[in-house]
Amino acid sequence: MKDRNATQDRKIPVHVAIIMDGNGRWAKRRGMPRTFGHTQGAKVVEQILEDADEIGIQYLTVYAFSTENWSRPETEVKALMNLLRRYMKSSLAKCAKNNVRVRVIGDKSVLAEDLQESIEVLERETAANTGIGFQIAINYGGRDEIVRAVRRAAQQGLLQDPDRIDDDVIGGCLDTAGIPDPDLLIRTCGEQRISNFLLWQLAYSEFYFTDKAWPEFDREELERAIDAFNHRERRYGGLK
Ligand code: FPP
Repeated sequence: MKDRNATQDRKIPVHVAIIMDGNGRWAKRRGMPRTFGHTQGAKVVEQILEDADEIGIQYLTVYAFSTENWSRPETEVKALMNLLRRYMKSSLAKCAKNNVRVRVIGDKSVLAEDLQESIEVLERETAANTGIGFQIAINYGGRDEIVRAVRRAAQQGLLQDPDRIDDDVIGGCLDTAGIPDPDLLIRTCGEQRISNFLLWQLAYSEFYFTDKAWPEFDREELERAIDAFNHRERRYGGLK
């Protein structure tokens, strides 16, 4: 059931993007290894996807692994890749049941081949689903995405006439082509920066920062973010 918590005039953001920060700190505080925080974080992702769908959010995008995250210790990178592997395989049935359409954004070409294959299967098998769009950013960097988009545009012969290069040309070559820009960006665990996430797409998004670490994030906090969004006045550079 969609929109069951929406009061009559509460706006539900169409697209919510999330920087899931604080897994490591949350685990350390409990005397556990950082990877425990990531495992817990992956469970929260699944719950929040269900909550977002129930609330009536149409697109959810999460930052799972950045182009910079390769510099973490090898054991942590391995643990994160294994979590993503497990997710791609285990969520197929659930996505079918819940009508979820998955798209992985980022440069997939350097990921392990088996992971690339399971991503391809999950994207293909869920492509015709009509429910919530779930974007997972893996080996993703906003600048890298723009560079790849420009390269793609050049390869498609779209840059030959400089006068015809516009937002739609570049936007249409991004990994997120066809997906509306996020209305709301949430970042957990206190930092207030965008860390190379969706640089192009966040141009007019509202930002919501919470001190909660990602493994502690829950529906209540998501509702709080939506309430805050409802108190913002979006002007898109114009006057009101
Ligand atoms: C940031 O916390 C979190 C990450 C770099 C990884 C996020 C990945 C997941 C939650 C798992 C993704 C799983 C699915 C199913 C999409 P941090 O490690 O930087 O924490 P810290 O700032 O406290 O060190």
